[in-house]
Amino acid sequence: MRVLIIGGTGHIGSYLVPRLVAGGHEVAVVARRPEPQYIDPRLGFGSVEWILADRSAEEADGSWARRMAGIEADVVVDLICYSPEQNRVMVEAFEGRITHFLHCGTIWAYGPPRRAPYFESDERRPIDEYGRNKAAIEADLIDRWRTDGFPATIIHPGHISGRKWLPIDPQGTRNGVGVYEKLARGEVVHLPRAGHETIHHVHADDLAQLFESAMINRQASVGEAFSGVAAYAMTLVGCCEFVARLFGREPNLEFVSDEEMERVMGAGAWAVTLDHLDHSPCCSIDKGRKLLGYEPRFTPEQIFVEAIEYLIESGELVV
Ligand SMILES: NC(=O)c1ccc[n+]([C@@H]2O[C@H](COP(=O)([O-])OP(=O)(O)OC[C@H]3O[C@@H](n4cnc5c(N)ncnc54)[C@H](OP(=O)(O)O)[C@@H]3O)[C@@H](O)[C@H]2O)c1
Repeated sequence: MRVLIIGGTGHIGSYLVPRLVAGGHEVAVVARRPEPQYIDPRLGFGSVEWILADRSAEEADGSWARRMAGIEADVVVDLICYSPEQNRVMVEAFEGRITHFLHCGTIWAYGPPRRAPYFESDERRPIDEYGRNKAAIEADLIDRWRTDGFPATIIHPGHISGRKWLPIDPQGTRNGVGVYEKLARGEVVHLPRAGHETIHHVHADDLAQLFESAMINRQASVGEAFSGVAAYAMTLVGCCEFVARLFGREPNLEFVSDEEMERVMGAGAWAVTLDHLDHSPCCSIDKGRKLLGYEPRFTPEQIFVEAIEYLIESGELVV
């Protein structure tokens, strides 16, 4: 099949493109630069057809719709669509002439769960603009499937992680290597509240597996949404404990007020943590397992090990 991937050189694309090429597909990638960012370009990207374009600029001047309308593909994977308007352009460009359209959403479309784990069939209650837009795109796509048969699948990733991309860290943010240094050395790590809120990672290659499985099992995936996450979520305390024990220590945790967390972490890093605390995601992968045979290779702990190993090898983390 000929597969068009919009935004195919980032976290997901760096793993998805080589998988599809190895599966015998003809792959065309839209990006501004012909450079996979998280993998050696010689691995799986050699036969890719590059379509170099700036989506934002072309959407602004109207040429994006014409570009899309001129591309022949069997399957379209849109990894970088953030608004219903952007998505409508894609649907109009490809309706009636592709067999499958896969949209990359986010578990932020779900909002904070009322029960854990959250199932794809549970009510969407997004609490921020990003999540509301992705939920609206999902609703539009499901509606188009039901009314016109537009063959859409939505994959909602958790916190994407990979070798060269720091996972959301044990304080629920991305704030350099400091928290890893502290956990490795047995120094005090501050946590908000009781540290019981959850984060839900996914390795980018597992996400690629889910996209690929959805394509292969088209009959089961069309008109459906799937959570792209690891098999389980972890609490912040659980993450701290795991990382500290990797270095043969117990975590030296201090539980402090939100105000103190902001002071210790800085406003930017704390805002990211707060976003994760507010969502406290924990999603089920039962549906993906049953319908698509999705089986993540990476546990959240293995994601941390891979990321920390890379930080040590690259000299960024000195312990
Ligand atoms: N990051 C997370 O933890 C997370 C969690 C949940 C959901 N998601 C969803 O995951 C998707 C993003 O996937 P990702 O993390 O693989 O993306 P990414 O690593 O940020 O990569 C973005 C890709 O899009 C290309 N791109 C960016 N701006 C572009 C433009 N204006 N025109 C053309 N190409 C452009 C980039 O290549 P160039 O820079 O060369 O153009 C690259 O190929 C989004 O839909 C997001 O909502 C992410």
